[in-house]
Amino acid sequence: MILTNLSRASAPAKVVLLGEHFVVYGSPAILGSIDRRIRVSAQIIRPPQIIIRSDTGFSASFAANKLDECGTNLSEAQKFTYPLYFAAHEVISGSLNAKAAKLGVEIDIHSDIPYGIGLGSSAASCVATVAAVGSLFLKRDRHWIFTRAHRAERLIHKSSSGGDCYVSTFGGLIYYIRNGKNRKIKTRRSVSMILVNTGIKHSTKALVSLVENFRNQNTSLFDDLANSATHICDQAALALTEDNPIKLGRLMSRNQRLLETLGVSTVETDNLVRYCLDSGAYGAKLTGAGGGGSVIALVPDEYKTEFEYKLLEKYSYQCIPVQIKSYGLMKY
Ligand code: PMV
Repeated sequence: MILTNLSRASAPAKVVLLGEHFVVYGSPAILGSIDRRIRVSAQIIRPPQIIIRSDTGFSASFAANKLDECGTNLSEAQKFTYPLYFAAHEVISGSLNAKAAKLGVEIDIHSDIPYGIGLGSSAASCVATVAAVGSLFLKRDRHWIFTRAHRAERLIHKSSSGGDCYVSTFGGLIYYIRNGKNRKIKTRRSVSMILVNTGIKHSTKALVSLVENFRNQNTSLFDDLANSATHICDQAALALTEDNPIKLGRLMSRNQRLLETLGVSTVETDNLVRYCLDSGAYGAKLTGAGGGGSVIALVPDEYKTEFEYKLLEKYSYQCIPVQIKSYGLMKY
């Protein structure tokens, strides 16, 4: 029996506070869901098609009764939305109801998460799509949704740690270990940062393979860096619980130096991080894959206005205040 004809879900963006890249190889990372979201609505349609539309203007259509290959014959919009199609197709083909009735789904996406700057927009769209399409057929729990969203995200970069999908599904501030035991970090007050968007879009896949090459060529150095990253995350989890922003800031800056050694930071990012520190931040680092993207700065509350002012004096980068929110995936 089909439960409903229309369902809606929304999932948050994230920032990686610490531990990106090393998390792919089993070290922990600390990620937080933030107050920017992607909203997806899914509706049953009769023709066996999966239609994906976004408020950014693209629209793509695929078969629902068989899995279209991701080949060169696809349009740009189809290539871009293929992971969402794959996720929706997996949900539909796993549902006896949809198979029996030969149904299709129309998916509409509205996003306030900038794309390609390290905020996990792809993961959030996979999570919200699996949740919205899944609820058309049966009640699904978060773990079911996370697993499928992560499978879809792995089409974008195959060694994805799953951290982005996990935090987008479960929400909050998470101490995340790939295939390990994840836990929520409890804080006395909500954590907020200033995200500085350099506007330089990155490819997570390319940067993850750059790190893979680095690791292959510098095995023992990589192990040392990964051990330091683990220590930094453990100390940062304590600093967060103890509400010690000075210590947290110092750890963020140490983490930045590890990322610089890996080669995923750029000269512009290194300079921007230093400028953030000179402008009053407790700590600053790139967030996400690097290669441009965004920097997060931990700035004392009373200093935030002046900090933003100083940044705008020197750079034309966009400053986005972000707050860690506990809400993960929401279904309506
Ligand atoms: O820049 P993003 O949002 O794609 O973040 C990627 C985080 C990495 O640690 C580099 C990759 C991963 O799978 O965790």
